[in-house]
Amino acid sequence: MPKPVIIDTDPGIDDALALLLAFGSPELAPVCITSVSGNVDVDTATDNILRILAHIGPDPAPTVARGAETPLEKAPEHATFLHGIDGLGDAGGELPDPRGDDAPGLSEEHAVDSILRHIEQSPEPPVLVALGPMTNIALAAQKAPQTLRHLDRLIIMGGAVTVAGNITPAAEFNFYVDPLAAQIVLDSGLPITLTGLDVTRKARLELRDLDACPDTPRTRLVQRITSSLFTHSQETEGTESIPLHDPLAIALSFRPDLCSTRELPVQVETRGEICEGMSLADRRPVLPRLKDPPNAHVCLDLAADSFLTLFRERVLWEQSLSSEAQTRT
Ligand code: BDR
Ligand code: CA
Repeated sequence: MPKPVIIDTDPGIDDALALLLAFGSPELAPVCITSVSGNVDVDTATDNILRILAHIGPDPAPTVARGAETPLEKAPEHATFLHGIDGLGDAGGELPDPRGDDAPGLSEEHAVDSILRHIEQSPEPPVLVALGPMTNIALAAQKAPQTLRHLDRLIIMGGAVTVAGNITPAAEFNFYVDPLAAQIVLDSGLPITLTGLDVTRKARLELRDLDACPDTPRTRLVQRITSSLFTHSQETEGTESIPLHDPLAIALSFRPDLCSTRELPVQVETRGEICEGMSLADRRPVLPRLKDPPNAHVCLDLAADSFLTLFRERVLWEQSLSSEAQTRT
């Protein structure tokens, strides 16, 4: 039986790739996709989810629900410098109309209620994967903490425990945008896997992977939405590869063996002037009783080749899709 999965996301180029991986993986049954303000504003993120689903054409279609417009306390911040004004590398126009016949309808429920309802109604404990700022998840944890206890696992793309940040020297983008939400979620007592820049920076798609794949509607789409990101990586890092942050979090929902983890106490800086949003894990070699108890399984290393093989097969070569599930453009 495929595992029920709920995905909270802010597409976002790598979020879009993560959705392609989720729906291309027979181990998963994505039942609910919710939007949150992050890479782009929440309405653009919601439209992007609908566009991507119209491209994929999943049957059954998941519920799509719009989430928080703003972080819990901060003003919204976006990453359009990286993801484009439309959040999809300014190539979102290549995708179907979010309100066209191929797109699923948008639920009238708020994302928080939709997440909670899907957990309550799920025949088995679902996995929740958070690919954007933690705002919706924190609101759900505050509204119905008992319901969240039915989760099998919460997988978070966020933080940077042993490496530098990306949006600031100290902080990873998702934690920086809503640090308070990240801290509330880490304090929730849920079974958390923290997939931060420590491992997602090692999960890289090479430009030559795209050159080597067949010419299909899918690969043309991936090429167009990632083009500006490859240019950015070339200019800033001198590499011809891009990090697959959010796809790695999806992969871990059915291939937890891809990362080695360590249980650690992790805190988020919520009030700092220069370290706002920084994730600080207590890795000191001291007696456990002298530290806070662990609150997350933190991913520290990645079997990068195995992950990339999986991503290439499922997203670029569409090898796990049945013939009925051909993509549409
Ligand atoms: C995270 O920030 C966003 O820009 C990406 O979509 C990813 O979720 C990486 O720091
Ligand atoms: Ca994201």
